Amino acid sequence: MKERILKAARNNSKLKQVLHYLLFRRKPYQSNVRWYVWLITTFPRYFRRGISRSARLDLVPFNRFVLGKRSKLEKNVTINNGMGDVIIGDDVQIGIGTVIIGKVTMKNYCGVSQYVRIIGMHHGLDPVAPHHDLPCSTSPVHLGEDVFLGTGTVVMGKKDGTPLVLGDYCRIGANSVVTTDIPPYSIAVGNPARVVKTWNFDLKKWVSIVGVKELVA
Ligand SMILES: CC(C)(COP(=O)(O)OP(=O)(O)OC[C@H]1O[C@@H](n2cnc3c(N)ncnc32)[C@H](O)[C@@H]1OP(=O)(O)O)[C@@H](O)C(=O)NCCC(=O)NCCS
Repeated sequence: MKERILKAARNNSKLKQVLHYLLFRRKPYQSNVRWYVWLITTFPRYFRRGISRSARLDLVPFNRFVLGKRSKLEKNVTINNGMGDVIIGDDVQIGIGTVIIGKVTMKNYCGVSQYVRIIGMHHGLDPVAPHHDLPCSTSPVHLGEDVFLGTGTVVMGKKDGTPLVLGDYCRIGANSVVTTDIPPYSIAVGNPARVVKTWNFDLKKWVSIVGVKELVA
């Protein structure tokens, strides 16, 4: 049913306008849903185990927000699925103050430390209108299994809209800024984040690939 309405709205601009009017408050920036939409789609989520009462859920009914089994949103986490789905796997911990803006997917066992930002969208930057009036585009971010993001990490989807992928078991250093794919089983640090260690399966330990200072310089 929802799919049929969405499909019809995509092909009919008048219907799209009406739905938009019914779903969203006019101000600010037409991105906050009306109170009755919030009451039906968002309010019940606060009674779900694992979601802190102080988490901010900016959810729209036409995109998905999934939080897997035993996963947790700690205090002051913000989830926004206005531009794309936010899908979080099982046994995932999202640390205090983190902001996640879809389109973002995370596989099981990911660990997101405090004050991380994962941004799966971009808006236009041309100085032709206020930036919030410029068109937005999705830039999906995919975190593989057991990806760990150090505190303060920023993960920014690619501007060309192709998915940014952090491979399984990769670890990102505190305060890093990730703008490119990170291969599985690697440690990346810095701004922009670069791989400094990879997991050696024979030695069963992380092995440095080259001095970080040379890479970051
Ligand atoms: C990335 C991290 C996991 C690497 O740990 P490690 O394997 O022990 O790495 P090392 O300490 O051997 O550091 C390797 C190199 O990376 C550099 N480095 C480590 N972390 C860095 C960071 N966050 N930013 C920039 N450079 C960093 C080190 O200075 C070192 O450089 P050098 O080889 O030139 O001396 C760790 O430093 C880190 O940032 N952990 C996150 C901690 C965190 O956020 N905890 C929250 C828990 S909820």
